Amino acid sequence: MKGIILAAGKGTRLKPLTDLFPKCLLPVYDEPMICYPLEKLIEAGINEVLVIVRPEEEYLFRKALDNNYRNVKITYAYQYKQKGTADAINIARKYAGNDNVALIFGDNIFDNSIKSSVENFKEGAHLFLRSVQDPERYGIAEIDGEKIKSIEEKPKSPKTNYAVIGCYLYDNTVFEHVKTLKPSSRGELEITDLNNIYAKNNQATYTILNNFWIDAGTVDALVTANLWMKNKTKYPGK
Ligand code: G1P
Repeated sequence: MKGIILAAGKGTRLKPLTDLFPKCLLPVYDEPMICYPLEKLIEAGINEVLVIVRPEEEYLFRKALDNNYRNVKITYAYQYKQKGTADAINIARKYAGNDNVALIFGDNIFDNSIKSSVENFKEGAHLFLRSVQDPERYGIAEIDGEKIKSIEEKPKSPKTNYAVIGCYLYDNTVFEHVKTLKPSSRGELEITDLNNIYAKNNQATYTILNNFWIDAGTVDALVTANLWMKNKTKYPGK
């Protein structure tokens, strides 16, 4: 399985910090944010990773990563326009070849390991869920036994509180599915629309995570991520 990290977001909710740095390079305690999702992939045994960046920011990512992760083959690709999270799949098509992929957002930080899910993954899509207090902020999954029935993006009246976190395992058919997506009302290819194709085909399985998870895309979330990482580093195993 190959890894893909999406790090081309503008980080508008973190302005003016993101006028200076790409969102995924902002500090989270003692490391740039992207190191956490990258290490999550490495820990799961993935040693080839595509990092999708904006072209003018590639050199910054190289500075942060290239000399610090010599045990993993990092390749860079560009997202020129904000065409949505599922567009990352289109960009990664050639890189992936015939392999399955683990897509992870560069601003998602979480504690649970995905190693066993990666090792056991065979086909379809495998998603990671976390129960949250504010379901209207995320993609929310309705589950039925071992499968995900459907996902609603930022629902006004959420059916459950299971947020779909920004980490997804896909088989190689994802490259066919993504071709069928139409831009949403905000003009983007949405990851939730992609996941719903698998859900409709009864091919979306899940793991519920029970430890820390945060989408560090807002100032408050960034502060929470920093404090959590500080405590974890100071009191390992806590
Ligand atoms: C995106 C996805 C959403 C998911 C979230 C996780 O939302 O669209 O389904 O729950 O990431 O971080 P965004 O952060 O783009 O609002």
